[in-house]
Amino acid sequence: MPRNDLVLRAIRGEPVDRFPVWLMRQAGRYMKEYRDLRERESDFLSFCRNVDLAVKASLLPLRLLGVDAVIIFSDILVPLEALGVRVEFLQNEGPRLSWSGKPSDLRTYDPQANAYVYEIIRKVKKAQDEVPVIGFAGAPFTLLSYLIEGGSSSDFRKTKLFMWEREYDFRRLMELLTDTVYTYLSAQVDAGADLVQVFDSWTGYLSRTDYEEMVLPYVTELVERFRQRNDVPLIYFFRGSAAFLEPVLQTRADVLSVDWSVDLAVEMVRTDRVFQGNLEPSVLYAEDEVIRFKTLQLLRSIPRRSGYIFNLGHGLAPDMEFRKVRLLVETVKGYKIAE
Ligand code: CP3
Repeated sequence: MPRNDLVLRAIRGEPVDRFPVWLMRQAGRYMKEYRDLRERESDFLSFCRNVDLAVKASLLPLRLLGVDAVIIFSDILVPLEALGVRVEFLQNEGPRLSWSGKPSDLRTYDPQANAYVYEIIRKVKKAQDEVPVIGFAGAPFTLLSYLIEGGSSSDFRKTKLFMWEREYDFRRLMELLTDTVYTYLSAQVDAGADLVQVFDSWTGYLSRTDYEEMVLPYVTELVERFRQRNDVPLIYFFRGSAAFLEPVLQTRADVLSVDWSVDLAVEMVRTDRVFQGNLEPSVLYAEDEVIRFKTLQLLRSIPRRSGYIFNLGHGLAPDMEFRKVRLLVETVKGYKIAE
C-alpha cells in the first residue's frame, strides 16, 4: 500500500483531508528534465521500450510536482505493434500507422510483446512506495481510430465512413481491440498497477447515437471483464462528455474522467459516482492569478468531501510552462476541504 493513498481513498469514498491530484500527460515535453531524458533515444518508441529511461520519466512528476499518483511512461499505441501494425512516430508529425484495412491482417494480441511495460511498472513500484501507480491503455474506439486514420486526424472522417459503411468489420475490430485492451490491462495489474485508466480521447467527434451503438457496448464489456478478473479501480476517460455522460453512467467504471463540458457540481449531486477532472487545460496559458482563481473556483464547486480526483479535462500540452503547472498542483494541494 502506498504511503500516500489519497487517490485510492477518494475512489472508495473514504474521508480525505484534501483532494488528490495528478495530471494527464504529466511526464512530457513541457518539462525540461523530460526533454533531456528524451534526447537519449532518437526514436520515441525506442524511448518507450527503454525500461530504465521510461522508469525515470514516470517518476519525474512525482519528484518535480509532488503529484498524488504516478502514471507509467508509455503510449496508447504501443500494443498495436503487437497486432502486427507498423507504428512510427515522426518528428513533429505525430504517429503514423500502416495497416491494410483488413481485419484478417491483424494478429491475436500476445501480451508478452509488451513485457517491457510490465517491467516498467515493477520498477516504478520498486523505486518508490509513496503514491499509487497508474497503468493505462487506449480504449477500443480511440485505438481503432488510429488504425483506420493511419495517424492523428482533425475530423475522423475515415473512421466514421468505415463505421457506417463497414459495420461488420468495424465491430469485429472493436471486439479484437476490447480483447487486446482487457488482456494488456490485466497484465499491467499482475505487474503491480494499483489502478488503471482507459483513454477514449476521440469520442467527442461522434454523435451520441453512434457512441451508444458502436462504442459503448465495447466499453461496457471491457469494464465488466476487467472487474471480474481484477480488483483494482478503473478510470474511464472520454470526451464529448456532456452528451455521453448519461450512457457512460450505465457502465460500472469506478471513476469517470470528464472534460469541461460537464457541470461537475451538478453531476456529483445528481449521481453517486466518483469523478475526475475537469479543468480546461487552456487555463494553464493564463496569468498566475487566473490559474489560481479558476482552480479554486472548480475545487469550491465540488459538493462532496470525497469521491473526487482533481485533473485536467484533457492532457497537458508541450508548450505549457512548467512553473504554471507546478502552481496548479500547489493550488490543489493547498486547498482545504470545507467542513
Ligand atoms: O501521461 C503521461 O505522462 C504518461 C505518458 C503518456 C504519453 N502518451 C506519452 C507521450 C500517455 C498516458 C499517453 C497517452 C496517449 N497517447 C493518448 C491519450 C491521452 C490524450 O492525450 O488524449 C493519445 C491520444 C496518444 C497518442 C499520441 N502519442 C500522439 C497523438 C502523439 C503525438 C503527438 C504529441 O503529443 O507529440 C504521441 C506521442 C507522445 N506520447 C509523446 C509523449 C510524451 C510526445 C513524443 C515525444 O516525447 O517525443
